[in-house]
Amino acid sequence: MPIIKINNNPISIQSSTDHSMLTDLLNAGIGYPYECVTGKCGLCKFELIQGNIIKTEENPTGLSSRDLKKGNRHLACKCKLNSDLDIKVKLDNKFIQKTKISKIRSSVISKELLTHDFIKITLKPDENMSWLPGQFCLLSDPLLPSIDRAYSIANNYIKDGHIDFYIKRVPDGIFSNHIFDKINIDSTLILKGPFGHSYYQRSNRKLLIIGGGSGLSYAASIAKQAFSEGKDFLFYYGSRSTQDIPNWSSLVFTNNEIIDIKTVLSQSNNEWTGPTGFLHEVVNEDLGASLCEFDIYLAGPPVMVECSIKSFFDQGVPSENIHYDSFY
Ligand SMILES: Cc1cc2nc3c(=O)[nH]c(=O)nc-3n(C[C@H](O)[C@H](O)[C@H](O)COP(=O)(O)OP(=O)(O)OC[C@H]3O[C@@H](n4cnc5c(N)ncnc54)[C@H](O)[C@@H]3O)c2cc1C
Ligand code: FES
Repeated sequence: MPIIKINNNPISIQSSTDHSMLTDLLNAGIGYPYECVTGKCGLCKFELIQGNIIKTEENPTGLSSRDLKKGNRHLACKCKLNSDLDIKVKLDNKFIQKTKISKIRSSVISKELLTHDFIKITLKPDENMSWLPGQFCLLSDPLLPSIDRAYSIANNYIKDGHIDFYIKRVPDGIFSNHIFDKINIDSTLILKGPFGHSYYQRSNRKLLIIGGGSGLSYAASIAKQAFSEGKDFLFYYGSRSTQDIPNWSSLVFTNNEIIDIKTVLSQSNNEWTGPTGFLHEVVNEDLGASLCEFDIYLAGPPVMVECSIKSFFDQGVPSENIHYDSFY
């Protein structure tokens, strides 16, 4: 078992060839900072003082050119443990994992189009997996080695042993196009997870759920959990145009109920009579200063998440009431 000295405190870690250094540290109960798990946000960066790591990606986007020049800055989500290490990183108890992260094989049992470029896939894992509503997994295909991507789990509990994901086709995107075009019923996908700390937490405050584009999956999981607890909430969904509005009837949330969703389009057209504009601006117009009374859960493209958070801060919403996942 490698011994990792973090900020001079030695801890012995169970390392696994299945997992990144980040996962090994999280599974050891360490409050190691992370967000995307895919080498993009840079939050899991550490300074290597001594020891060797195995890099699983050269020059991930989460490292700046300055980091790369220094040569001793690395991303824990893009390394594997190889020896005893001495590292420096700022830990925080809020990152302590509530559920063990596992690697589980699963079979695709259904694929259903939600829009022309948005698909729901349902997986049956070989082993039970538990997660908190709003968490995500890394998905990979053994036929596409070394490629994995993060996807939010769209259901709030394991219904009939199945897990749902809603995946948007990204132009020229490797994995999303692979899911659309190459994955069939009975295909095998590997799940690693659950990850994420923006999960649903019970509170007495009002509840606001916001999903932009593929952020619908995260929003759906939170909404399903709130619904199952009889908790009222407001739900906003932002997409580009009418053709991007999902077939809500495929997204029955629970007990055949479809939640009342306020859809906001960024591009207006003649047939659309609902709100148009930036999602966060419409939310601000509707709720204004009352946003401070809400717990806010949001997910979607990073720019939408950033603009929304800034506008909530401007309204005086405290950061602890804002829970979010940026879909880098
Ligand atoms: C926590 C989290 C949760 C997420 N949940 C979801 C979800 O529920 N549903 C969902 O659909 N997505 C989700 N995502 C996004 C998802 O992980 C993928 O990023 C997305 O599916 C694109 O992957 P891809 O392999 O298709 O695209 P990639 O191949 O990674 O490419 C992404 C884009 O970058 C461009 N690109 C790639 N390489 C380069 C380059 N070298 N230079 C310039 N441009 C480049 C591509 O053209 C493409 O437009 C989530 C992300 C995170 C971090
Ligand atoms: S968690 Fe490693 S770069 Fe985002």
